[in-house]
Amino acid sequence: MHPAEQKQTKTMHCKLVLWLAIVIGAVSAIASEGTVFTDESCRQSGALVFYRIKLVTSWSKKLFPKHYPEFRPPPHWSMTFGQTHNDSFRLFEMKHPASVAVSTFAETGQVGSLEESLAQQQDVLFDEFRLPKIRKGKGESEATFFVDLSHPTVSFMTKIVPSPDWFVGLDSFSLCSRGRWLEKVTVPLHPLDAGTSSGLTFTSPKWPTNPRGVIERITARFPLHFASSFFYPEIKHLPPIAHVTFTKIKEYANRNNVHKKVKRMKQKQRTKLLKKLSQQSERADADPGVGQGVNAIRDASGSDVDCRVSAWSTWSPCSKTCGLGKRNRARSVLQAQRPGGRECPSLVETQWCGSARQCSVIDNYFRW
Ligand SMILES: *[C@@H]1O[C@H](CO)[C@@H](O)[C@H](O)[C@H]1NC(C)=O
Repeated sequence: MHPAEQKQTKTMHCKLVLWLAIVIGAVSAIASEGTVFTDESCRQSGALVFYRIKLVTSWSKKLFPKHYPEFRPPPHWSMTFGQTHNDSFRLFEMKHPASVAVSTFAETGQVGSLEESLAQQQDVLFDEFRLPKIRKGKGESEATFFVDLSHPTVSFMTKIVPSPDWFVGLDSFSLCSRGRWLEKVTVPLHPLDAGTSSGLTFTSPKWPTNPRGVIERITARFPLHFASSFFYPEIKHLPPIAHVTFTKIKEYANRNNVHKKVKRMKQKQRTKLLKKLSQQSERADADPGVGQGVNAIRDASGSDVDCRVSAWSTWSPCSKTCGLGKRNRARSVLQAQRPGGRECPSLVETQWCGSARQCSVIDNYFRW
């Protein structure tokens, strides 16, 4: 094959693979409708993975002409509320009744009760994130979050405003698929009905559904009622009203006991997590015995056949002044290992430092 041809084939191949990855991601999200699947090898591959979530909404008069709200309130989207978690947590389940917290959010867009209910479940949660409101029907909003080896799934919801109790969202979407952390995946979103407030149109008055219904996807044929705002008998499928894209920004490798540190830090949200990390680093500075984990050995004493190393140097400055960076410290061999003696421990240690919240312009850090 001609080299240029070869190159072209390769590029096409890459595109195909990327496209497949997106399709598989989207299909599995829909097919599983919330089923959690986690692959062991993701658990091994990295300790901490940083993702961007971007919500793009397409509620326009052109796509959804029926009952498009022209006046008070104009079409918009509430703040998006999301979290990463392990397999023991569900934000909502299709065909099941919504929790009080979820239905309150779906009806009012207020996060208070969701926050309260999540505070009770901190042990299964890892990180929380918010995407700012989208003030128009068409728009976008984004945020970042962490997943880790034992919390690879993400859930979120956004209220459609105005509406009785309609929202878009995902429940328990695993970012670990087929053994890999997904690089980039886009999932179409359709309106969901929380089942707790009756009303067929965006602006119909709210009254409680009795008995409480279950969470259902609203389609061009459901609810099967001419008055429904999404009832379009002439089309087969509604276009997605929004899309969500997850993009992997960075994967922190499982080195230098990072795994153990992350384990200790789970249940914390990002700010707490990073604060604790920097505190640990400070303690490690003050006391060379802390933070060496399994590698800790007696620095000064020991027999004369064992390897002996110096005390740790001070930590290097953080590699990032804005955002999550790394810093190192080192030590040197004072006495080499002799036959029968103990091996030298690792001579370099790396830790996280900084905080995503320190950035005055967060966007600059995340742009790449
Ligand atoms: C989720 O985390 C909690 C707390 O650590 C644990 O008790 C539970 O077994 C975990 N669930 C799964 C499915 O791993």
